[in-house]
Amino acid sequence: MYSQVLFALMGAVASQTTSGTPTNQSITASAAYNGSTTPSPTSPILQLNLNLEDVWDLLIGPVAVANTTTTYSPTPVPSSSLIPPPPLYYSPFPTGQQVPLTPKNESWSFPSDFWWGVAGAAFQIEGAAKDEGRGPSVWDALTRVTNHIVDNSTADVADNNYYMYKEDISRLAAQGVKIYSFSLSWSRILPFGRGPVNQQAIDHYNDLINTCIEYGVEPSVTLYHWDTPLVLQDTYGGWLSEDIVPDFVEYARIAFEAFGDRVSKWYTVNEPIVFCNQYPLPAQYFKNFTIPNKQQPFHCGQSVLLAHSQAYHVGKSILGDHSSITYKNNGGYKIPLTNSSADAQAVQRAWDFNEGWFSDPVYLTGDYPESVKEYVSGFLRDFTDEEKQQILGSSDFYAHDAYTAQFYMAPDSGLDSCIGNVTHPLYPSCANTTYTYSAEDGGWVIGPAADPGSPWLHKATDWVPAFLKYMQDTWVTPSPGPVKGVAVTEFGFAEPFEGSKTLLQDILYDAVRTSYYHDYMEAILMAIAEGTDVVGCLAWSFVDNFEWQQGYASRFGMQYVNFSDPALPRYYKASFFEYINAFKIYGSEGGD
Ligand code: NOJ
Repeated sequence: MYSQVLFALMGAVASQTTSGTPTNQSITASAAYNGSTTPSPTSPILQLNLNLEDVWDLLIGPVAVANTTTTYSPTPVPSSSLIPPPPLYYSPFPTGQQVPLTPKNESWSFPSDFWWGVAGAAFQIEGAAKDEGRGPSVWDALTRVTNHIVDNSTADVADNNYYMYKEDISRLAAQGVKIYSFSLSWSRILPFGRGPVNQQAIDHYNDLINTCIEYGVEPSVTLYHWDTPLVLQDTYGGWLSEDIVPDFVEYARIAFEAFGDRVSKWYTVNEPIVFCNQYPLPAQYFKNFTIPNKQQPFHCGQSVLLAHSQAYHVGKSILGDHSSITYKNNGGYKIPLTNSSADAQAVQRAWDFNEGWFSDPVYLTGDYPESVKEYVSGFLRDFTDEEKQQILGSSDFYAHDAYTAQFYMAPDSGLDSCIGNVTHPLYPSCANTTYTYSAEDGGWVIGPAADPGSPWLHKATDWVPAFLKYMQDTWVTPSPGPVKGVAVTEFGFAEPFEGSKTLLQDILYDAVRTSYYHDYMEAILMAIAEGTDVVGCLAWSFVDNFEWQQGYASRFGMQYVNFSDPALPRYYKASFFEYINAFKIYGSEGGD
């Protein structure tokens, strides 16, 4: 089914003018049988009239539907659901039967303009995959790739948040959450990635935003959280091609114009390091591109920097200065395994090839870090001076998804054996990494491990103050742009083996995640007390959801969702109470 003929068709589809109502858009496609995206005059021509349903049928196949497909009215949260769990913490050696509570640290507080809330993303929670005119995204296809998702699940229904958003928002409000950060589905708004706008999607997000406001929760928007419209991927390679830049900027313009009167914090793209490293996409399902595998992420990165920066300037011209626009970078704190100079060099290369790849251009120079530049100049065009100017300063605050920390060191064979050696497995970053201290330092893991499905994640909260200061000193303070402080735009924890627990009450007492939030919030308070300008934070995530390749096996929710119950009920976990407690105690309205 996913033959070259089909991709040829998609190439033709995307270049056609579309017409019709949002749910009934039809596209006239013509394509050559020879597999080329350009119809050849000597090849037979196939003419098809495709509507959105045909595109789903051809590219995705059957899609599951939720039990309820009308908007739920929120159920009032009973006061019994708002009783916090018994405490988890006590002084190290309690002397009597009574457990002493840890006193409030009087030298800590969140500044009055500190903002906080919770985050989620469209593909991971919405479901309603084909409903109300949504077009397919690359992730609808990836969930059909054999063995790509560990539990063989899809996100066709996920949390059914597309219909349950009022319930979700009312449950956030009942806990006093200040900000709800969600992403828009690009292929809901523009089913083919470009072309006609689906008014039902605009209406949906308008109502979601208005519901937030009605409940006193600030809505915050990410434009793109990995769900590239499939038609754009199969037409020109998605982020592999600079063709995506005008399409993304137009999508951004539509969103800024539709929602900018009520949304003031915007993120263009989420974690480009991660989604760019998802290239190359699995060959048996997606159109193949001849770009060498190791170069593909950097082609993607180039398009991201252009698309983000142009969208930023379009956004500023529409929204004015009362708004903030940035993008979300990500990665853990990088610690040298030993104090050798080779390990220090490896750490610098790790920063360069991860955070620096996107942060140096936006915050420091308009271009890549030297080590990255050296690599990419072999196959990417240079940014023009005008592009560099547009990229530099295209952010209003430094947004980082900062979950964890890990050690870095030079490869066993030495850095020189790798730098410039395309066949080395660690090329091009040439930084090796481990989660454990060196043998001389005891060989312990850096902190308690999360669920085995998220092996990159450990509770390494002790490193958070140093991490926040590093970001401020490296990208915020030296930046010539308007950047104001550092925000932790995602942090959270996958409770070990939570997905295989069966007793509701056991699932709800999520001890490791709770201690992660407790210690993380203390670390932010400590950083603020030490002078780092931490401006806000968003916990990931407010509900259990579709964790990409881990499906529903690895869970990050501060609310449990019973996915086996067709009504998909939500329950607060202990960690939710711990998170909001930090603001009750140390927030500007905090008590004594
Ligand atoms: C960051 C990503 O933005 C989000 O989609 C993912 O679920 C979390 N990390 C946890 O892995």
